[in-house]
Amino acid sequence: WSVDKGPYRHFMLKEIHDQPQSIARLLASVADTHAMTMKPFLPDLDFSKIDKVTLVACGTAYYACHVAKTWFEEIAGISAEIDIASEYRYRKRIHAPRELVIVVSQSGETADTLAALKDVRGHVAARLGVVNVATSSIAREADHVVDIEVGPEIGVASTKAFTGQMLALLSVALKAGVERGQIDKAHLASLVQDLASLPRIMSETIALEGRVSEVAQEIAPARDAIFIGRGLQYPMALEAALKLKEISYIHADGYAAGELKHGPIALIDRDMPVIVFDSAGPLQGKTRSNAAEVAARGGRVWHVGHDAKGGIQTPECPDRVLPFVYAVVAQMLAYHVALAKGTDVDQPRNLAKSVTVE
Ligand code: G6P
Repeated sequence: WSVDKGPYRHFMLKEIHDQPQSIARLLASVADTHAMTMKPFLPDLDFSKIDKVTLVACGTAYYACHVAKTWFEEIAGISAEIDIASEYRYRKRIHAPRELVIVVSQSGETADTLAALKDVRGHVAARLGVVNVATSSIAREADHVVDIEVGPEIGVASTKAFTGQMLALLSVALKAGVERGQIDKAHLASLVQDLASLPRIMSETIALEGRVSEVAQEIAPARDAIFIGRGLQYPMALEAALKLKEISYIHADGYAAGELKHGPIALIDRDMPVIVFDSAGPLQGKTRSNAAEVAARGGRVWHVGHDAKGGIQTPECPDRVLPFVYAVVAQMLAYHVALAKGTDVDQPRNLAKSVTVE
Protein backbone atom coordinates (compact mmCIF):
# COMPACT_ATOMS: atom_id res chain seq x y z
CA TRP A 1 0.00 0.00 0.00
CA SER A 2 1.31 3.43 -0.82
CA VAL A 3 1.21 6.02 1.92
CA ASP A 4 1.06 9.02 -0.36
CA LYS A 5 -2.06 10.54 -1.81
CA GLY A 6 -1.18 9.64 -5.37
CA PRO A 7 -3.48 11.51 -7.75
CA TYR A 8 -6.02 12.22 -5.00
CA ARG A 9 -6.58 15.56 -3.30
CA HIS A 10 -6.96 14.05 0.16
CA PHE A 11 -6.04 10.83 1.94
CA MET A 12 -9.70 10.27 2.68
CA LEU A 13 -10.56 10.30 -1.02
CA LYS A 14 -7.68 7.93 -1.78
CA GLU A 15 -8.81 5.61 0.99
CA ILE A 16 -12.39 5.63 -0.31
CA HIS A 17 -11.03 4.64 -3.72
CA ASP A 18 -8.76 1.96 -2.19
CA GLN A 19 -11.81 -0.04 -1.12
CA PRO A 20 -12.42 -2.36 -4.08
CA GLN A 21 -8.78 -3.44 -3.70
CA SER A 22 -8.69 -3.58 0.10
CA ILE A 23 -11.88 -5.63 0.15
CA ALA A 24 -10.60 -7.98 -2.58
CA ARG A 25 -7.43 -8.57 -0.61
CA LEU A 26 -9.19 -9.40 2.66
CA LEU A 27 -11.66 -11.56 0.77
CA ALA A 28 -8.77 -13.59 -0.64
CA SER A 29 -7.56 -14.40 2.89
CA VAL A 30 -10.93 -15.53 4.24
CA ALA A 31 -12.81 -17.07 1.32
CA ASP A 32 -12.14 -19.40 -1.59
CA THR A 33 -14.26 -17.84 -4.30
CA HIS A 34 -13.57 -20.67 -6.77
CA ALA A 35 -14.63 -23.52 -4.50
CA MET A 36 -17.29 -21.16 -3.04
CA THR A 37 -16.34 -21.92 0.51
CA MET A 38 -14.60 -20.21 3.42
CA LYS A 39 -10.89 -20.70 3.99
CA PRO A 40 -9.90 -22.19 7.33
CA PHE A 41 -9.15 -18.91 9.07
CA LEU A 42 -9.04 -18.60 12.88
CA PRO A 43 -8.45 -22.37 13.15
CA ASP A 44 -8.19 -22.27 16.96
CA LEU A 45 -11.53 -20.57 17.46
CA ASP A 46 -14.29 -23.18 17.47
CA PHE A 47 -17.81 -21.78 17.35
CA SER A 48 -19.40 -25.10 18.30
CA LYS A 49 -18.19 -24.14 21.79
CA ILE A 50 -19.61 -20.59 21.70
CA ASP A 51 -23.20 -19.63 22.60
CA LYS A 52 -22.96 -15.88 22.83
CA VAL A 53 -21.03 -13.11 21.12
CA THR A 54 -20.42 -9.65 22.57
CA LEU A 55 -18.98 -7.01 20.25
CA VAL A 56 -17.25 -3.98 21.74
CA ALA A 57 -15.64 -0.93 20.11
CA CYS A 58 -15.59 2.88 19.81
CA GLY A 59 -16.60 5.28 17.05
CA THR A 60 -16.90 3.94 13.53
CA ALA A 61 -15.69 0.50 14.63
CA TYR A 62 -18.72 0.34 16.94
CA TYR A 63 -21.03 0.71 13.95
CA ALA A 64 -19.28 -2.24 12.30
CA CYS A 65 -20.18 -4.18 15.46
CA HIS A 66 -23.74 -2.91 15.24
CA VAL A 67 -24.30 -4.28 11.75
CA ALA A 68 -22.44 -7.50 12.61
CA LYS A 69 -24.87 -8.20 15.45
CA THR A 70 -27.54 -8.88 12.83
CA TRP A 71 -25.20 -11.06 10.78
CA PHE A 72 -24.30 -13.19 13.81
CA GLU A 73 -27.94 -13.62 14.72
CA GLU A 74 -29.26 -14.27 11.22
CA ILE A 75 -26.41 -16.27 9.71
CA ALA A 76 -24.98 -18.07 12.72
CA GLY A 77 -28.09 -18.25 14.92
CA ILE A 78 -26.05 -16.97 17.83
CA SER A 79 -27.10 -14.38 20.37
CA ALA A 80 -25.07 -11.21 19.86
CA GLU A 81 -24.81 -8.06 21.94
CA ILE A 82 -23.00 -4.83 21.24
CA ASP A 83 -21.53 -2.22 23.53
CA ILE A 84 -19.50 0.96 23.42
CA ALA A 85 -16.11 0.28 25.02
CA SER A 86 -16.19 3.31 27.33
CA GLU A 87 -19.51 2.07 28.76
CA TYR A 88 -18.78 -1.63 28.72
CA ARG A 89 -15.56 -1.40 30.69
CA TYR A 90 -17.28 0.33 33.62
CA ARG A 91 -20.56 -1.62 33.58
CA LYS A 92 -21.41 -4.57 35.78
CA ARG A 93 -21.49 -7.30 33.19
CA ILE A 94 -23.13 -10.68 33.26
CA HIS A 95 -20.90 -13.03 31.29
CA ALA A 96 -21.95 -16.38 29.87
CA PRO A 97 -19.55 -19.32 30.26
CA ARG A 98 -19.46 -19.94 26.49
CA GLU A 99 -19.15 -16.29 25.51
CA LEU A 100 -16.83 -14.83 22.89
CA VAL A 101 -15.92 -11.16 23.21
CA ILE A 102 -14.92 -9.47 19.96
CA VAL A 103 -13.24 -6.09 20.09
CA VAL A 104 -12.89 -4.10 16.90
CA SER A 105 -10.32 -1.34 16.45
CA GLN A 106 -8.59 0.05 13.37
CA SER A 107 -5.55 1.22 15.32
CA GLY A 108 -5.61 -1.55 17.89
CA GLU A 109 -4.62 1.11 20.42
CA THR A 110 -7.86 2.82 21.50
CA ALA A 111 -7.61 3.06 25.30
CA ASP A 112 -11.22 2.17 26.14
CA THR A 113 -11.31 -0.77 23.73
CA LEU A 114 -8.00 -2.17 24.99
CA ALA A 115 -9.16 -1.78 28.60
CA ALA A 116 -12.42 -3.61 27.82
CA LEU A 117 -10.44 -6.47 26.27
CA LYS A 118 -8.16 -6.71 29.31
CA ASP A 119 -11.12 -6.51 31.68
CA VAL A 120 -12.81 -9.63 30.33
CA ARG A 121 -9.68 -11.79 30.50
CA GLY A 122 -10.55 -14.92 32.51
CA HIS A 123 -14.30 -14.14 32.47
CA VAL A 124 -15.19 -15.37 28.97
CA ALA A 125 -14.38 -18.39 26.82
CA ALA A 126 -12.36 -16.46 24.23
CA ARG A 127 -11.41 -12.95 23.09
CA LEU A 128 -11.04 -11.99 19.44
CA GLY A 129 -9.47 -8.76 18.21
CA VAL A 130 -10.29 -7.36 14.78
CA VAL A 131 -7.55 -4.85 13.97
CA ASN A 132 -5.73 -3.16 11.12
CA VAL A 133 -2.35 -3.22 12.87
CA ALA A 134 -1.06 -6.73 13.53
CA THR A 135 1.52 -5.52 16.05
CA SER A 136 -0.89 -3.35 18.03
CA SER A 137 -1.64 -3.65 21.76
CA ILE A 138 -5.07 -5.15 21.08
CA ALA A 139 -3.60 -7.74 18.69
CA ARG A 140 -1.05 -8.71 21.34
CA GLU A 141 -3.61 -8.93 24.15
CA ALA A 142 -6.33 -10.87 22.30
CA ASP A 143 -6.47 -14.68 22.19
CA HIS A 144 -7.37 -14.64 18.48
CA VAL A 145 -6.78 -11.95 15.87
CA VAL A 146 -8.17 -11.04 12.47
CA ASP A 147 -6.02 -8.53 10.63
CA ILE A 148 -8.21 -6.64 8.16
CA GLU A 149 -5.09 -5.79 6.11
CA VAL A 150 -6.53 -2.70 4.45
CA GLY A 151 -3.24 -0.81 4.61
CA PRO A 152 -2.48 2.40 6.51
CA GLU A 153 -5.48 4.65 7.00
CA ILE A 154 -4.28 8.24 7.27
CA GLY A 155 -7.49 10.28 7.03
CA VAL A 156 -8.93 10.74 10.52
CA ALA A 157 -12.41 9.73 9.34
CA SER A 158 -12.36 5.96 8.98
CA THR A 159 -13.32 4.63 5.53
CA LYS A 160 -11.56 1.51 4.22
CA ALA A 161 -11.01 0.24 7.76
CA PHE A 162 -14.77 0.35 8.32
CA THR A 163 -15.61 -1.76 5.28
CA GLY A 164 -12.71 -4.08 6.15
CA GLN A 165 -14.11 -4.49 9.67
CA MET A 166 -17.53 -5.28 8.26
CA LEU A 167 -16.14 -7.89 5.88
CA ALA A 168 -14.03 -9.46 8.65
CA LEU A 169 -17.05 -9.67 10.96
CA LEU A 170 -19.32 -11.01 8.23
CA SER A 171 -16.71 -13.68 7.50
CA VAL A 172 -16.49 -14.61 11.19
CA ALA A 173 -20.31 -14.86 11.24
CA LEU A 174 -20.15 -17.23 8.24
CA LYS A 175 -17.52 -19.33 9.96
CA ALA A 176 -19.72 -19.40 13.07
CA GLY A 177 -22.73 -20.42 10.98
CA VAL A 178 -20.83 -23.34 9.46
CA GLU A 179 -19.37 -24.53 12.76
CA ARG A 180 -22.71 -24.29 14.54
CA GLY A 181 -24.40 -26.28 11.80
CA GLN A 182 -26.63 -23.37 10.74
CA ILE A 183 -25.41 -23.23 7.13
CA ASP A 184 -25.25 -26.14 4.71
CA LYS A 185 -22.89 -26.31 1.74
CA ALA A 186 -25.31 -24.81 -0.78
CA HIS A 187 -26.23 -21.95 1.53
CA LEU A 188 -22.55 -21.28 2.22
CA ALA A 189 -21.84 -21.21 -1.52
CA SER A 190 -24.51 -18.57 -2.04
CA LEU A 191 -23.18 -16.50 0.87
CA VAL A 192 -19.62 -16.71 -0.46
CA GLN A 193 -20.93 -15.67 -3.86
CA ASP A 194 -22.36 -12.54 -2.19
CA LEU A 195 -18.93 -11.81 -0.71
CA ALA A 196 -17.24 -12.43 -4.04
CA SER A 197 -19.37 -9.73 -5.65
CA LEU A 198 -18.14 -7.10 -3.19
CA PRO A 199 -15.10 -5.69 -5.03
CA ARG A 200 -17.20 -5.11 -8.16
CA ILE A 201 -20.08 -3.62 -6.16
CA MET A 202 -17.68 -1.30 -4.34
CA SER A 203 -16.29 -0.08 -7.70
CA GLU A 204 -19.79 0.47 -9.06
CA THR A 205 -20.70 2.44 -5.94
CA ILE A 206 -17.58 4.61 -6.15
CA ALA A 207 -18.58 5.36 -9.75
CA LEU A 208 -21.62 7.22 -8.32
CA GLU A 209 -19.32 9.92 -6.98
CA GLY A 210 -20.53 12.55 -9.47
CA ARG A 211 -24.17 12.14 -8.42
CA VAL A 212 -23.24 11.98 -4.73
CA SER A 213 -21.33 15.22 -5.13
CA GLU A 214 -24.41 16.92 -6.66
CA VAL A 215 -26.49 15.92 -3.65
CA ALA A 216 -23.67 17.05 -1.36
CA GLN A 217 -23.86 20.58 -2.80
CA GLU A 218 -27.51 20.75 -1.77
CA ILE A 219 -26.86 19.48 1.73
CA ALA A 220 -23.75 21.59 2.40
CA PRO A 221 -25.63 24.78 3.46
CA ALA A 222 -27.69 22.90 6.09
CA ARG A 223 -27.03 23.27 9.80
CA ASP A 224 -28.43 19.84 10.66
CA ALA A 225 -29.18 16.63 8.78
CA ILE A 226 -30.93 13.35 9.50
CA PHE A 227 -30.21 9.89 8.10
CA ILE A 228 -32.76 7.10 8.47
CA GLY A 229 -32.62 3.39 7.74
CA ARG A 230 -33.98 0.06 8.90
CA GLY A 231 -32.38 -3.29 9.64
CA LEU A 232 -28.82 -3.49 8.35
CA GLN A 233 -29.14 0.09 7.12
CA TYR A 234 -29.89 1.53 10.58
CA PRO A 235 -26.23 1.26 11.66
CA MET A 236 -25.26 2.68 8.25
CA ALA A 237 -27.47 5.70 9.00
CA LEU A 238 -25.61 6.13 12.30
CA GLU A 239 -22.25 5.84 10.57
CA ALA A 240 -23.31 8.29 7.82
CA ALA A 241 -24.29 10.84 10.48
CA LEU A 242 -20.97 10.36 12.28
CA LYS A 243 -18.97 10.81 9.04
CA LEU A 244 -20.85 14.03 8.22
CA LYS A 245 -20.32 15.43 11.73
CA GLU A 246 -16.64 14.51 11.78
CA ILE A 247 -15.52 16.24 8.63
CA SER A 248 -18.18 18.80 7.64
CA TYR A 249 -19.22 19.92 11.15
CA ILE A 250 -22.87 19.67 10.21
CA HIS A 251 -24.82 18.36 13.15
CA ALA A 252 -26.26 15.04 11.99
CA ASP A 253 -28.17 12.19 13.56
CA GLY A 254 -29.00 8.71 12.38
CA TYR A 255 -32.29 7.11 13.37
CA ALA A 256 -34.03 3.83 12.93
CA ALA A 257 -36.70 4.90 10.43
CA GLY A 258 -39.51 3.71 12.70
CA GLU A 259 -38.26 5.93 15.53
CA LEU A 260 -38.74 9.20 13.63
CA LYS A 261 -42.28 9.58 14.89
CA HIS A 262 -41.12 9.23 18.50
CA GLY A 263 -39.41 12.58 18.63
CA PRO A 264 -37.12 13.50 15.75
CA ILE A 265 -40.01 14.32 13.43
CA ALA A 266 -40.52 17.45 15.55
CA LEU A 267 -37.29 18.76 13.99
CA ILE A 268 -38.53 18.54 10.43
CA ASP A 269 -38.90 21.74 8.45
CA ARG A 270 -37.74 22.81 5.01
CA ASP A 271 -34.21 23.43 6.26
CA MET A 272 -33.79 19.83 7.41
CA PRO A 273 -32.33 17.45 4.84
CA VAL A 274 -33.36 13.85 5.45
CA ILE A 275 -31.38 11.15 3.69
CA VAL A 276 -33.31 7.90 3.46
CA PHE A 277 -31.37 4.65 3.17
CA ASP A 278 -34.12 3.10 1.14
CA SER A 279 -32.98 -0.48 0.60
CA ALA A 280 -35.16 -3.05 -1.09
CA GLY A 281 -36.71 -5.75 1.06
CA PRO A 282 -39.86 -6.51 3.00
CA LEU A 283 -39.60 -3.32 5.07
CA GLN A 284 -39.04 -0.94 2.17
CA GLY A 285 -42.68 0.15 2.14
CA LYS A 286 -42.47 1.10 5.79
CA THR A 287 -39.27 3.11 5.29
CA ARG A 288 -40.90 4.88 2.36
CA SER A 289 -43.93 5.79 4.39
CA ASN A 290 -41.59 7.26 7.02
CA ALA A 291 -39.99 9.31 4.22
CA ALA A 292 -43.44 10.42 3.04
CA GLU A 293 -44.22 11.64 6.57
CA VAL A 294 -41.09 13.81 6.39
CA ALA A 295 -42.04 15.19 2.96
CA ALA A 296 -45.58 15.93 4.17
CA ARG A 297 -44.07 18.14 6.87
CA GLY A 298 -41.99 20.11 4.42
CA GLY A 299 -38.71 18.24 4.96
CA ARG A 300 -36.34 17.74 2.05
CA VAL A 301 -35.85 14.07 1.29
CA TRP A 302 -33.17 12.24 -0.66
CA HIS A 303 -33.58 8.53 -1.22
CA VAL A 304 -30.53 6.32 -1.58
CA GLY A 305 -31.30 2.92 -3.05
CA HIS A 306 -31.45 0.75 -6.11
CA ASP A 307 -34.79 2.18 -7.27
CA ALA A 308 -34.33 5.62 -5.73
CA LYS A 309 -35.26 7.74 -8.71
CA GLY A 310 -34.27 11.36 -8.27
CA GLY A 311 -32.01 10.51 -5.34
CA ILE A 312 -28.88 8.41 -5.45
CA GLN A 313 -29.47 5.25 -7.43
CA THR A 314 -27.21 2.49 -6.15
CA PRO A 315 -26.09 -0.70 -7.92
CA GLU A 316 -28.15 -3.82 -7.54
CA CYS A 317 -26.65 -6.19 -4.99
CA PRO A 318 -27.62 -8.91 -2.53
CA ASP A 319 -29.37 -7.58 0.61
CA ARG A 320 -26.75 -9.08 2.89
CA VAL A 321 -23.96 -6.93 1.48
CA LEU A 322 -25.94 -3.72 1.00
CA PRO A 323 -24.30 -2.07 4.03
CA PHE A 324 -21.07 -1.90 2.02
CA VAL A 325 -22.86 0.15 -0.64
CA TYR A 326 -24.39 2.51 1.91
CA ALA A 327 -21.06 2.86 3.73
CA VAL A 328 -19.33 4.04 0.56
CA VAL A 329 -22.16 6.44 -0.33
CA ALA A 330 -21.99 7.85 3.21
CA GLN A 331 -18.23 8.36 2.94
CA MET A 332 -18.47 10.12 -0.42
CA LEU A 333 -21.35 12.28 0.74
CA ALA A 334 -19.50 13.47 3.84
CA TYR A 335 -16.36 14.01 1.77
CA HIS A 336 -18.10 16.17 -0.84
CA VAL A 337 -20.03 18.19 1.74
CA ALA A 338 -16.73 18.87 3.53
CA LEU A 339 -15.13 19.83 0.22
CA ALA A 340 -18.00 22.23 -0.53
CA LYS A 341 -17.59 23.78 2.92
CA GLY A 342 -13.80 23.97 2.69
CA THR A 343 -13.13 22.16 5.97
CA ASP A 344 -9.93 20.21 6.65
CA VAL A 345 -10.97 16.78 5.40
CA ASP A 346 -8.00 14.74 6.58
CA GLN A 347 -7.39 16.54 9.88
CA PRO A 348 -10.78 17.65 11.21
CA ARG A 349 -10.70 19.96 14.20
CA ASN A 350 -10.60 18.44 17.69
CA LEU A 351 -10.32 14.85 16.45
CA ALA A 352 -7.47 12.35 16.66
CA LYS A 353 -6.94 9.30 14.49
CA SER A 354 -6.40 7.15 17.52
CA VAL A 355 -7.52 7.98 21.06
CA THR A 356 -5.00 6.35 23.36
CA VAL A 357 -6.05 8.25 26.49
CA GLU A 358 -9.39 8.25 28.23
C1 G6P B 1 -11.20 7.91 16.83
C2 G6P B 1 -11.23 8.09 15.32
C3 G6P B 1 -12.43 7.34 14.73
C4 G6P B 1 -12.38 5.89 15.14
C5 G6P B 1 -12.30 5.73 16.66
C6 G6P B 1 -11.99 4.30 17.06
O1 G6P B 1 -12.27 8.58 17.40
O2 G6P B 1 -11.29 9.46 14.99
O3 G6P B 1 -12.40 7.43 13.32
O4 G6P B 1 -13.52 5.23 14.66
O5 G6P B 1 -11.25 6.53 17.20
O6 G6P B 1 -10.70 4.00 16.62
P1 G6P B 1 -10.14 2.54 16.45
O7 G6P B 1 -8.70 2.71 16.07
O8 G6P B 1 -10.29 1.87 17.79
O9 G6P B 1 -10.95 1.86 15.42
